[in-house]
Amino acid sequence: MRIGIVGLGVVGLSTGVVLAEQGHEIVGVDIDQGRVHGLQCRRPPIYEPGLEEALNRNFERMKFSTDYSSLSDAEVIFITVSTPTVDGRIYLGYVFDAARKIKEVARGVIAIKSTVVPGTARKVKEITNLKVVSNPEFLREGNALHDTESPDRVVIGSDDKEAGDLIQELWSFTKAPVIRTTTDEAELIKYAANSFLAVKVSFINEIANLCERLNCDVNVIARAIGLDKRISPYFLSAGLGWGGSCFPKDTLAITSFARDVGEKLRIVEAAIEVNQERPFRALKLLKEVMGEVRGKTVCVLGLAFKPNTDDTRESVALKVVNLLRQEGAMVIAYDPKARSDVEMVTLDECITRADGVIIATEWDEFRGLEPKLRGKPVVDGRRVLDPAKMGQEFRAIGLGVR
Ligand SMILES: NC(=O)c1ccc[n+]([C@@H]2O[C@H](COP(=O)([O-])OP(=O)(O)OC[C@H]3O[C@@H](n4cnc5c(N)ncnc54)[C@H](O)[C@@H]3O)[C@@H](O)[C@H]2O)c1
Repeated sequence: MRIGIVGLGVVGLSTGVVLAEQGHEIVGVDIDQGRVHGLQCRRPPIYEPGLEEALNRNFERMKFSTDYSSLSDAEVIFITVSTPTVDGRIYLGYVFDAARKIKEVARGVIAIKSTVVPGTARKVKEITNLKVVSNPEFLREGNALHDTESPDRVVIGSDDKEAGDLIQELWSFTKAPVIRTTTDEAELIKYAANSFLAVKVSFINEIANLCERLNCDVNVIARAIGLDKRISPYFLSAGLGWGGSCFPKDTLAITSFARDVGEKLRIVEAAIEVNQERPFRALKLLKEVMGEVRGKTVCVLGLAFKPNTDDTRESVALKVVNLLRQEGAMVIAYDPKARSDVEMVTLDECITRADGVIIATEWDEFRGLEPKLRGKPVVDGRRVLDPAKMGQEFRAIGLGVR
């Protein structure tokens, strides 16, 4: 099948390479010329495990362009553009812009993978007069290709049976359970899923705060409650909170959307509030072990919002960096993949030069650093170190003073 992809970010590229691997012809369109040019030279604009290799393997079946007319004979066109929040509300301008441009050139079925509030697919149908399916994406950055190939479920929201069947057929190779719904339900499923996960993390982070007061270990609590099948062990890691391009914007988008239609999502709003306090927690723990940070050099280990990605969007690590700067600290950082305006140095230099260290992302290479870090004031914001191997000037989220 000939498939168009509009928006060549994590979601668009993962969808593209995975469907190309299934033998489909892919036409990718993006408004970002640099991005398209890089892809035409086989250079993905983002780091994602396996992406560059998959792009190269399937390059013959993949075309990239800034010109929407290349979508003219696509049978299915995925919309995978960004849907940021602006002033706490979802901004759908990119989706509607894509829809208007698709309308000018194409006749295929539109499948919306971008995360959008209920009612959006109906509006895209009004704009384009084409068949529109809501097919939300649940991939995790850092595992994007695996999750696209082997999703836990495929959600297909469609008010047109034939169009829904076509998208269902496209993903049938995944063997995942398929949930057929209305477009509004499919759109809401995505927000319900992300909000629930955000609530779960904020919940364990509140328990972590309590553990610090009581000198209990939140990891012990999390392990014990996670063995209860009704709770499950996933998303129970206490830390500096959730960031990234999805949870922060999606929780804001759905809570403001809910208020607009006359409902208040109190639990999700509380989860957002708990999350906003996490960087202050890191600073509080650091001050406990090194006193005031003014005029001192603090090394932040990890800038990406989570390991195995170079994505720093809404990264809590960067919020910690800003807080430290506001407090008058000199900040240096090390991250295996991510970059920012912070002075980036090697891992060894970061530790050697620092008066204090905060571990802000749980990259695997930070495990086992105890011998190098011992003796320095350290805050383990992601619980990667063994507290038994650390000295007095050590604090970890959810641990208290040992
Ligand atoms: N990143 C994730 O982990 C993830 C997971 C599930 C769902 N989502 C959702 O999928 C959507 C895309 O996310 P992403 O992380 O891939 O975004 P991204 O920001 O990495 O990429 C979006 C791309 O769309 C392009 N774009 C914007 N407007 C365009 C237009 N009118 N025409 C063509 N291209 C346009 C941008 O230039 C950019 O390259 C968002 O709604 C997001 O919430 C993301």
